[in-house]
Amino acid sequence: RGAAGSGADLAGRHVVVSAGGTREPLDPVRFLGNRSSGKQGYALARTAAARGARVTLVSANSALPDPAGVDVVRVGSTLELREAVTKAAAEADAVVMAAAVADFRPAVYATGKIKKKDDREPEPLALVRNPDILAELSASRPRSGQVVVGFAAETDDVLPHGRAKLAAKGCDLLVVNEVGESKTFGSEENEAVVLGADGSETPVPYGPKETLAETVWDLIAERLPAAPR
Ligand code: CTP
Ligand code: CA
Repeated sequence: RGAAGSGADLAGRHVVVSAGGTREPLDPVRFLGNRSSGKQGYALARTAAARGARVTLVSANSALPDPAGVDVVRVGSTLELREAVTKAAAEADAVVMAAAVADFRPAVYATGKIKKKDDREPEPLALVRNPDILAELSASRPRSGQVVVGFAAETDDVLPHGRAKLAAKGCDLLVVNEVGESKTFGSEENEAVVLGADGSETPVPYGPKETLAETVWDLIAERLPAAPR
């Protein structure tokens, strides 16, 4: 598979993939969430395992079944995702942040169910910022030569926004795709451009999420330092 043409070009490598979408609890029965299905992250995990990698999949609220041969860590909120990804990244050759991470979480978590009070209008919902996990990973690089990859869904000015985001995050690759109401979310297919910190631009035509996943691993494999023998 891939440029090297090898069936197991990721053998001996440990890779971490985050998938799905984080949920920020308001109270025991409610959360703020997003529409990510986890399909792209799961496709990344499956394809990496097929190429010989040891794969840790940090899965946030995906309904998909655990892929065979992959270590799955299930998480709910952004802070849980951050803890699991940071721990796994300590010994990883590559980290791919395919999860849709909530930018904000409720400032307070109510331990009991929030009640509507009489006929008063509701209070505005106070939010606080979540940590930027991708930026933290890009800055920390616990293993030298570790490749860090992000995903960005944009609705307009896709490439300029993607370039700016790649620079702001400090990651090596950013997979940029255009989203809309019916595009990408829950879909089996995807279309994207993979931007490299080195200035490279790799378009991936509309097709199965597996195809995009293979291209991402090709680009990662090219950037990994030579495997220790
Ligand atoms: N990401 C992250 N931590 C966050 C937010 C996003 O690790 N708190 C990661 C996502 O997993 C993704 C990448 O950053 O790989 C880009 O996410 P995106 O939401 O497009 O970026 P933001 O910086 O949050 O920009 P925006 O204001 O457009 O939402
Ligand atoms: Ca965001």
